[in-house]
Amino acid sequence: MKVAVLISGRGSNLHSLIQASNEPKSGFEIILVISNKRNALGLETAKEVGIPIEIIDHRNFSNRESFDNKITEFIESINIELICLAGFMRILSESFINRWYDQIINIHPSKLPAFKGLNVHQRVIDAGEKNSGCTVHFVRNKMDTGPIICQASVPVYANDDVESLSSRILKKEHIIYPQAVKLIAQGRVAVNGEYTLIDGKNIFPKNC
Ligand code: GRF
Repeated sequence: MKVAVLISGRGSNLHSLIQASNEPKSGFEIILVISNKRNALGLETAKEVGIPIEIIDHRNFSNRESFDNKITEFIESINIELICLAGFMRILSESFINRWYDQIINIHPSKLPAFKGLNVHQRVIDAGEKNSGCTVHFVRNKMDTGPIICQASVPVYANDDVESLSSRILKKEHIIYPQAVKLIAQGRVAVNGEYTLIDGKNIFPKNC
């Protein structure tokens, strides 16, 4: 399965996806990394392993659709089958999401549907939550919604700050994101309304 990864920054999830793609039976290959930021650290990771990169700076486009159309142009030209958002900090237009329906997935650092949006870890701490986690889901038009593929949990401790909680969650992100992509590449994920079915069942895969 041909995969494109869209990033805006650090790229640690990109790194975990690259590593997983190199496993013998992964079933997927990352053939393009797109960033809207020229200085995104993740671009260096892609370059190191020889994955082609494209920088598409959103500031060069007069509106969201034209920026998104440029992304579509690139990914259509190389027959991408799955788009992975990995810390991509742009909201995608409805037309883009409809064009790639069930072919865009995202990782979000909370247990969706709880704590959608930004500044998640601080809000989790402020709310006194006892656990949090991360979610891989298909992307729909409303932000941080869509059928959930994998989800992992971590405890929240009384002395946690954003840094300690986010790094605990990030370790789980690096497990479940590659896992979700492998499941899709192996043809084991189906979307049925608001649910994903894994091997035909409404369950979470192992490790989640
Ligand atoms: C991750 O926490 C991810 O859940 C969120 O953005 C962050 C990206 O981190 N969507 P990285 O760039 O993959 O290191």
